Amino acid sequence: MHKLEDRTVVLGVSGGIAAYRACELCRLLVKEGARVAVVMTEPAARLVGPATFQALSGRPVEVGWGGASSAAGMEHIDLGRDADAIVVAPATANTLAKIRLGLADNLLTSSVLASRCPLVLAPAMNTRMWENPATRENLAWLHTQARVWLVGPDQGPLACGEEGAGRMAEPAAILEAVCAALRPADLAGARLLVSAGPTREAIDPVRYLSNRSSGKMGYALAAAAARRGAKVVLVSGPTALPVPPGVEHVPVSCAAEMAREVKSRAGRCDALLMAAAVADFTVARPARAKLKKDRVQGPLRLTLVPTEDILASLGRARRGRRPLLVGFAAETGDPVPAAKSKLEKKRLDLVVANDVSEAGAGFEVDTNHLYLVEKDGVREIPPASKEACAERILDRLAERLKTRR
Ligand code: CTP
Repeated sequence: MHKLEDRTVVLGVSGGIAAYRACELCRLLVKEGARVAVVMTEPAARLVGPATFQALSGRPVEVGWGGASSAAGMEHIDLGRDADAIVVAPATANTLAKIRLGLADNLLTSSVLASRCPLVLAPAMNTRMWENPATRENLAWLHTQARVWLVGPDQGPLACGEEGAGRMAEPAAILEAVCAALRPADLAGARLLVSAGPTREAIDPVRYLSNRSSGKMGYALAAAAARRGAKVVLVSGPTALPVPPGVEHVPVSCAAEMAREVKSRAGRCDALLMAAAVADFTVARPARAKLKKDRVQGPLRLTLVPTEDILASLGRARRGRRPLLVGFAAETGDPVPAAKSKLEKKRLDLVVANDVSEAGAGFEVDTNHLYLVEKDGVREIPPASKEACAERILDRLAERLKTRR
């Protein structure tokens, strides 16, 4: 089945070297059945000939302020109004800044300003431009916009000869984001509770025990679920991530707080996705004042006591309607046997397992390689971005919730 049948997608190409890779994206969009209207900025048209996009899309290509297909001279409004989605690839630092400010100085930016449809942005630029505080601020704002889907950039060698973040995401990943943006809201009406990030167990007022969880997987799940129509509460340990648009955020610090906030809400949700890396042990008696090293005689001993296993407690609860319980198992080595045992021991409905020792599948990276372990078998999610993994997990969750209703 063609995922974009009968959909009109505006492909905005701004002037970065990656413009030539937008040709492949154009081909993929057409292959999925989309009507593709290509709009190029003047600098983009100096990098790749409009005729190439015209041949790939089978339609006239607009450059600069356009004019090729305008009947009434209202193209700057028409394109954005008629589009089901707009994808800007590559989105240069300059074009991102204009979109953030609401500038409309060419057909591409005016179409974006005059539209309400999903907007997929694939940034591509030199690493220093990407890291510039002005770009960071623009990106932070764009992240808060419910209709904006950001894809990439990837790390790698750049056209300028440097190496780093700034390479446009793969065309296949951008296509995936366009398809996700146009997916029907299959989680509308569902109430999801997502936990994310690490916990911090205090040793004294300035020190704590924690772990390497970045929170990326849980945040990606919360963001994707909200986009798919769910009402999402995100109970999160400390992370450096922005709260996804439309998501209610409940910040917590230690395992005990996480337990309190999750358990008090679990009865009111349809599914609990426990992506947080909750500490299994906490410090028995944290010091009330800062520990001074010259007051410690010999080795410093900390007594650690087990924390409450939140999922296991909820799995045991018999009274009332219990939510679908989804656990996460970050293992070293084959994660499936451990996930199967957690599924059974904690009485869960699904365990999402990964091998954190595998390259590109663990903490602090943007990709994952997962196994969905359930009573009836194991489904593999091949290596993909955490965002794409989140969509696959939610595909399965949506199926499970449907059979439950
Ligand atoms: N979990 C929880 N409460 C805890 C510890 C973990 O709810 N106190 C949840 C995690 O959020 C995760 C799942 O249990 O979804 C599995 O966590 P993990 O630490 O891998 O499992 P454990 O049962 O603690 O086993 P181990 O650490 O020995 O692998």
